[in-house]
Amino acid sequence: MKIAITLALLATAAATPALAQETTLPHLEAHGARHTLIVDGKPFLMLGAQVNNSSNYPAALPAVWPLLDRLHANTVEVPVAWQQIEPVEGQFDFSFVQTLLDQARAHDKRVVLLWFGTWKNTSPSYTPDWVKLDNRRFPRMKTRTGADHGTLSAMFRTTLEADKRAFVALMRYLKDHDPQNTVILVQPENETGSYRNPRDYGAVANALFAKPVPAALAKALGKPVGTWTALFGAQADRAFNTWHTAAYVNEIAAAGKAVKPLPMYVNAALAGPSNVPDPDGVASGGPQQDVLPIWKAAAPAIDFEAPDIYDGKAPDVLAYLDAYARPDNALMVPEIGNAEAFARFFWAALGRGAIGYAPFGMDETGYYNYPLGAKALDAPTLDAIADKYALLAPIASDWATIAATHPTWGVAKGEDGTAQSTTMGDWTITAGFGEWQFGQKSWSWIKSEPPEWANRPVGGGVVAQLSADSFLVMGDHVRFDFAGRTGGPANGMIVRVEEGTLKNGTWVTSRVWNGDQTDYGLNIIDRPVLLRVTMGHFR
Ligand code: DGJ
Repeated sequence: MKIAITLALLATAAATPALAQETTLPHLEAHGARHTLIVDGKPFLMLGAQVNNSSNYPAALPAVWPLLDRLHANTVEVPVAWQQIEPVEGQFDFSFVQTLLDQARAHDKRVVLLWFGTWKNTSPSYTPDWVKLDNRRFPRMKTRTGADHGTLSAMFRTTLEADKRAFVALMRYLKDHDPQNTVILVQPENETGSYRNPRDYGAVANALFAKPVPAALAKALGKPVGTWTALFGAQADRAFNTWHTAAYVNEIAAAGKAVKPLPMYVNAALAGPSNVPDPDGVASGGPQQDVLPIWKAAAPAIDFEAPDIYDGKAPDVLAYLDAYARPDNALMVPEIGNAEAFARFFWAALGRGAIGYAPFGMDETGYYNYPLGAKALDAPTLDAIADKYALLAPIASDWATIAATHPTWGVAKGEDGTAQSTTMGDWTITAGFGEWQFGQKSWSWIKSEPPEWANRPVGGGVVAQLSADSFLVMGDHVRFDFAGRTGGPANGMIVRVEEGTLKNGTWVTSRVWNGDQTDYGLNIIDRPVLLRVTMGHFR
């Protein structure tokens, strides 16, 4: 049975702008508060995975592709290290980049390039030896006592110019050797900032710190020009370092974009979901959520800031997703732990309009970053993300189109597994967890033990409202109940539940769910499926 209803016809009455169709460079489009990544002229949902840090050599790539295929990923995030492309100053070697491009194309994967330059987790470890050993030309930050800190200072043009030259050479290589845009996004630097040193306390930095904040920053923040301390109080040193780090990265990104204007983003070492962090504990300078306004003002060449999520507590993960999904910032999760417990947040990210998602440490090189991520990539660990990606992969562009132009709700099981609800139009939708597919937990006339997944950190889903009474639903280890909202029109009911898929924006039904499959909610357990739910009112 083929029901030819295009997404345009399914769209809500409030007309939404048409999405770009012409083939262009990858770029971002804003649709109200939502963002869309356009690749090959079409909306793209990045079903990504990031390899381990040292997998940026041809020898490691055979350990990458089988796992990416196993995950049904369409994109791989891979580092390119300054030390590997410019081992000798001025002499560039792009052999790994070419191997990566060739193999990614052969394996039908898009690439996100991670530029490991001045900062890699704040450290200069990926800079060439001629950089990391020359502290006069490329000075480290000074601590409050005048000692050398481990992080390179953002204050020196020598360092900035050298990093920029290498990055521009990389972008030129892409311009010349990647006309098909296998590389869709670029991340200049990796987790910028400095730990236990809120700013450089050397003479150059101190002289700048003594001056008023730049007028552009004060204006962007809606504050009067004043000293750093007057404007930022206890966070003054960190605000100063954030401005200068962001400006440094911006100059590198802008120079790269002048050669090939791919979208560029930066990733954040996070420091707690809600409080303004301790400036000595946080990676000061990085794009944590509370300093996004500084990054936005200092780095207009950066398309978006993005959270690296390794804190698996559900409220924290959701707080991070909410903090980075902003009208002025596309939500993309460039790193998240690869353990099973993190996978359910994929749904929460999708519901917030995420343009991409990538668990970290996804290759078969035998390295595992437990306790941040999984102890091993065993079948349950991989299936937790692979089952979701397998469902989304064939409809990735359709989903990206829908998410840009329709209300969506993403839900992930919380710490205690209680049900969660939302209201979309006249309908209240509830996601329950730890239920068998049949019956109710509350039944006393027949006994049952809880299902084995009730005690596992699994469960979630996403709902898109296609029209007033019609919804797309996906999920796993979840029970969705649909009901008329309190105070809404009487006699609301499910009219029809169809399992199916989307083909180029057209819904295709494979079967209709009814009877046991709908009498106790829509129970999607270990086989994620795509449902279309039509609601109505009887009179
Ligand atoms: C975040 C960094 O961005 C990654 O490169 C990696 O070091 C992880 N932390 C930890 O495995």
